[in-house]
Amino acid sequence: MKEIEILLNEAKIKEKVKQLGSQISKDYKDRELVVVGVLKGSFIFMSDLVRSIETPLYCDFLRVSSYHDDRSTGTIRMEFDMTQPITNKDVLLVEDIVDSGKTLRHLLKHLKTKEPKSLKVATLLYKELGLGNKELINYLGFEVPNRYVIGYGLDSNGLYRSLPYVGAYK
Ligand code: IMP
Ligand code: MG
Repeated sequence: MKEIEILLNEAKIKEKVKQLGSQISKDYKDRELVVVGVLKGSFIFMSDLVRSIETPLYCDFLRVSSYHDDRSTGTIRMEFDMTQPITNKDVLLVEDIVDSGKTLRHLLKHLKTKEPKSLKVATLLYKELGLGNKELINYLGFEVPNRYVIGYGLDSNGLYRSLPYVGAYK
């Protein structure tokens, strides 16, 4: 295993997810939420986040891929779509990380064609590149430096998703 530098430890992530969950619970009070996770990267964040949201909610998933060998191909492929209709529903899209923002823009466009009542975005991480995608994010965990990060759902060629922290290669 290559040496990994811990950027965000377990306790820090846990605390942040709790904060995001209570903010979301407040914002969606008395509403029914559809939480849509973007696979595979968001699966750990999503599972912790939904458990910290008190609002009754549905979980759904879709899967896209854009990265090969730790580099964005820029081409986003929808590998599978959600199974439940979201027309007229309050939808919260859950991402692991927003980097160039291409994936997020693509997904928002796609989900809007399904005519949800509302559509918001939660992402654990945001890579500061100055590309101005921040306005697309409603609930943000952490900003990370412009390095390739792994752990807590994020992979490098499929590995390291199970690390309980977010790190980067030294
Ligand atoms: P974007 O389209 O460039 O914003 O990339 C978004 C997707 O690429 C994310 O949902 C991740 O799955 C993946 N990704 C981007 N940066 C990283 C990284 O540093 N580590 C792991 N995956 C990443
Ligand atoms: Mg992703």
